[in-house]
Order: sequence, then structure tokens, then C-alpha cells
Amino acid sequence: MKTGVRRVALVGTGFVGMSFAYSMLNQGGLEEFVLIDVNKDKAEGEAMDLSHGLPFGPQKMDIWAGTYEDCRTADIVVITAGANQQPGETRLALVEKNAKIMRGIVREIMKSGFNGILLVASNPVDVLTYVAWQESGLPRHRVIGSGTTLDTARLRFEIGKYLNVDPRNVHGYIIGEHGDTEFPLWSHTTVGVQPIMDVVANNPKFNQEDLEQIYVNVRDAAYHIIERKRATYYGIGMALARIVRAILGDENSCLSVSAYLNGQYGQNDVFVGVPAIVNRNGIREVFELNITEEETEKLTKSVNVLKETLNTVK
Ligand code: NAD
Ligand code: LAC
Repeated sequence: MKTGVRRVALVGTGFVGMSFAYSMLNQGGLEEFVLIDVNKDKAEGEAMDLSHGLPFGPQKMDIWAGTYEDCRTADIVVITAGANQQPGETRLALVEKNAKIMRGIVREIMKSGFNGILLVASNPVDVLTYVAWQESGLPRHRVIGSGTTLDTARLRFEIGKYLNVDPRNVHGYIIGEHGDTEFPLWSHTTVGVQPIMDVVANNPKFNQEDLEQIYVNVRDAAYHIIERKRATYYGIGMALARIVRAILGDENSCLSVSAYLNGQYGQNDVFVGVPAIVNRNGIREVFELNITEEETEKLTKSVNVLKETLNTVK
């Protein structure tokens, strides 16, 4: 029975999982944090190390290396387990290996009697969110992928730098596959209260070509980072903390998570990154923005790539 104590379980205590855990330790918002990994020693060592930061943190928290049984009363299980990309490798190339891992993990989580929200970050995240949904039997609004939350953050950071504006005042989204076919919704991007297209048109210092280059940098950011340091993790760790806090805090926040589309944008039966309202019940609703014809075509292309990939592991 729930006691009002907020519990999050993390499956996968690698780079991404522990960056998320470290963000939560610093930001707070939960009382119990369970770490699970196929490598039990790793989970135990991480729980010990993380706990030693508690005296410096914002709140009391119980952190331990647990088992799938501990998922039973979890509000959220975050899944960051699985292989990551080698330099030059696409996210989609991980699908076979990681779909198998995902099915095994979700089966164990569900055996515990878990009835909360699943949040998936393992790649290819949109496809694996579908796999997790299928395997779990949970209602679709309670299965969420990190989607393009990280890519959206990258876009806001780059635009903020370009225009010398606080990235928190850049309102715009990357949507589609968290991968090579993602794209920005320029038609719905504002800086402060000004549409970005007006900012660029009215100021000779800025131009459309630079915006296109910013998009390419965002789309390819993971490749550039992986080439240099083998993995990406701080950005996604913060993105996962943002989503978890939106859920636990019942925030009704608008985030570009991977959500199930059921007719929105003319798309069906797919999890893909789109702006959605996130609260204590998971995904409250997926907006259907009035996007341009070109943006609709790009989204269709992205969805087709995801569906083709999903078909190889369905
Ligand atoms: P990592 O190798 O550091 O960690 C993976 C962890 O998963 C390891 O601790 C491993 O023991 C564990 N694991 C593997 N199989 C397991 C199983 N069956 N049960 C439980 N635990 C298991 O990798 P990482 O860098 O942390 O990346 C993890 C995943 O996150 C990758 O798929 C990566 O592509 C993805 N990722 C996603 C985003 C995003 O925006 N969604 C960003 C970065 C990385
Ligand atoms: C990212 C991972 C690799 O950093 O998906 O985008």
C-alpha cells in the first residue's frame, strides 16, 4: 500500500542511470531511490557512493541497491539499461540487442506487481518505449520515453548562445525520432515573446543559414560527443530528472517526451517525441500543433523510420 513516500527505481546503473541519480540526489523530490543492475556489485557500489552525498543534499533519501521486487511500490521505474553507441554507430543499430534486454527487464518489473509509470531512456528510445509498453500491458499514458527532451535542451542551449539570450527563454521543440530524422519546429519557436523567424528576419547579425547549422549541430551532437568521450550522460541525466520531477510534482509541464500517438498529426500506433503535458498520471495529453506541410512530411518520415525499426523486433 502507498504511504505517501515517493519511490523511484532505476534499472541500469551505468553512465546515464547514475547521471540521472546524481541529478535527483542534488535536486530532491523523492524519499526512496532503488538502484538495480544486472551487475549487482556496480549497483551496490553506486548506492554506497551516492549515499555519501546525502549530508550535502537538499533532503533525506533512502538509497539502496535492490531487486525487482522493490519495484512493486515504485511510483516510477526509470530504465537506462542496455548497450550504448560505439563511435559512428546509429541509435537504431542498437535495437536488436536492447529490445531483448528491455523485454527481460520489463517482465521482471511487472512480475513484482508494479503499477506506476515507466520512463525509458535506453536507445533507440522511441522503439524501446513501444517495446516496454507492449511488454508491460500498462495503459499507454503511463509509459513514457525521454524522446527529444535532450535534443530540445540542446536546441535551446545553441539558440541561447547564438542570440545571447537565457536558454530558458527559448521556447521551441525538436520533435520526431530521437535520432537522425529529428527536426525543429521553427514555426513554433519563440525567443522571449518573439517568433525566432522574426528575430532572424529583422536583424542583419542573424540569418536562416545559421539556424540550419544549429539544427545540424543539435541532431549530430551525440556523434560528436561519443567520438570524443565514448558516451553522453550529463544532459540526459538532467532531462530524466526534469521528467521525473514533472511526474512526482504533478506539474502539468510541457515536455517533448516520446508519447503514443493515436491520430495526432495523422499518426497512429507509434511512440515518438512530441510536446506533451506530463503530470502525476503520466502523459495527460499530446498537443496537436498546427504544423506546416513541410514539418508534417518530416514527421511522417521520422515515424516511418521508427515503424520499420520496430517491425524488426515486434
Ligand atoms: P552503460 O554501459 O554505462 O550502462 C548500461 C548499464 O546497463 C550497465 O550498468 C549494465 O550493467 C546495465 N545492464 C545491461 N543489461 C542489463 C539488464 N538486462 N538488466 C539490468 N541492467 C542491465 O551505458 P550508458 O552510457 O549508461 O547508456 C545506457 C543507454 O542509454 C544506452 O542505450 C544509450 O544509448 C542510452 N542513452 C539514451 C539517451 C537519450 O537521450 N535517450 C542519451 C544517452 C544515452
Ligand atoms: C544522445 C544519446 C546518445 O546523447 O541518445 O543523444
